[in-house]
Amino acid sequence: MTAAFAERLLGWFDRHGRHDLPWQHPRSPYRVWVSEIMLQQTQVATVIPYFERFMERFPTLDELAAAQADAVLSSWTGLGYYARARNLHLAARRMVAEDLPETVEGWAALPGVGPSTAAAIVAQAFDRRAVILDGNVKRVLSRHGAVDTPVEAAATQRRLWALADERTPDDRAADYTQAIMDLGATVCRRGQPLCAHCPVASDCLARVQGRVAELPVKRRRKARPTRRRLLLWLEDEAGQLFLEKRPPSGIWGGLASLPECASTDGIDERLAGLALERDDDWREIGRFRHAFSHFELDASLIAARVVPRGLAESRGEWHGLDALASSHPPVGLPGPVARVIRERAGALSAIQDTARRDD
Ligand code: ADE
Repeated sequence: MTAAFAERLLGWFDRHGRHDLPWQHPRSPYRVWVSEIMLQQTQVATVIPYFERFMERFPTLDELAAAQADAVLSSWTGLGYYARARNLHLAARRMVAEDLPETVEGWAALPGVGPSTAAAIVAQAFDRRAVILDGNVKRVLSRHGAVDTPVEAAATQRRLWALADERTPDDRAADYTQAIMDLGATVCRRGQPLCAHCPVASDCLARVQGRVAELPVKRRRKARPTRRRLLLWLEDEAGQLFLEKRPPSGIWGGLASLPECASTDGIDERLAGLALERDDDWREIGRFRHAFSHFELDASLIAARVVPRGLAESRGEWHGLDALASSHPPVGLPGPVARVIRERAGALSAIQDTARRDD
C-alpha cells in the first residue's frame, strides 16, 4: 500500500524542499508574517532581496509599527500590490497595541491576512497544524484529486479546502506547509510539470487520466484593456522633481508618483490645479507599458520645466533626483516610475561626470 500523501510529501521535502529561505532562520512569527505577506502573488526569488532589506530596516515589530508609512512604502517600491505594505503597517500598529495572535482566527482578523495566509503563518511560526490553500496548493490538489470544475467557483473552493484538510497531517505542520507550497512551485508547475519527480504522482488522478495539462480549470479571462496616460515629469529650476501623493486606495495607493493626465487636453488645467506654471515647451522623454491585473498602462512621459505659483495648497512635494534614485528613497514609488527616475538620474550623473572630466 502507498504511504499517506503527507508522508511521501515530507520525505520528498527532506531531500528536495527549500530549507534555507531567509524567513526560516530564525523562524519568528514577525519574520514569517512579513514573508507570507510579501509572498502573496509574488515568487520566492523576487521576494528574497526585498525581505532581507526589509528586515535590515525594520528588524522588529516595534520598529515597523513606529515607522512612517512612507518609509514602509519606500521599502516596497517595485514589489507591487502596495495595499500589502499599507496593511502590514496597520497590522503592526494593531499588534503592538494588542498581542501577537497565535491562532488562525486571530491572524485572519488582521488587515491583509486571508485564511490561507493566516494558516501558513500559524503552521510555520508555531509549528501548529493549520490548513493552507494558496494558488500553488490549489493546483496540486486539483490535479491530484482530478477536480475539474472551475477553480474560482465557490463549490470548487469548498471541495479544495476539504481535500487540503484531509491531506494535512497532525505533525510537522511547518514542514508540511512549506513542502506542499514547494511542490506546487517547483514540481507541479503550471506549465511543464515535472511529474517524473513528483512524490505523489502514483495516485495523482490527473496523471492517471492524462489530464495534468487541463487542470486546474480556469474561467477564461477577458483580454486586458489598455489605458493610455500621460505622466508629467515636472522639474523646477534646481532640477528637483515634482511628485504627487496618490490617494490611499486604488492603483499605487499612497505612493508618490508623477502627476497623471488622461490626454494632452487636460494638462494645463492639471498644472493649474497643482499651482504650477510651465516655463518651457513639453518634450516627450520616454514611454513604458506596465501590466496591472485588470488593465495595461501605456504611459508617455512628458517633461517640462515649471515654476511654483505661490504657496497654494497642493498635494505635491519636491525631491532631488539623487535621493529618489537611492536605495532608500524618501517616499514609496511605483516600480516603473522608480525605474525611470533611476535611469534619468544615472544619465544625468553620467553627463556631469563627462563634463567634470572635460574641465
Ligand atoms: N508562497 C506563499 N508562502 C510561501 C512560502 N512560505 N514558500 C514558498 N512560496 C510561498
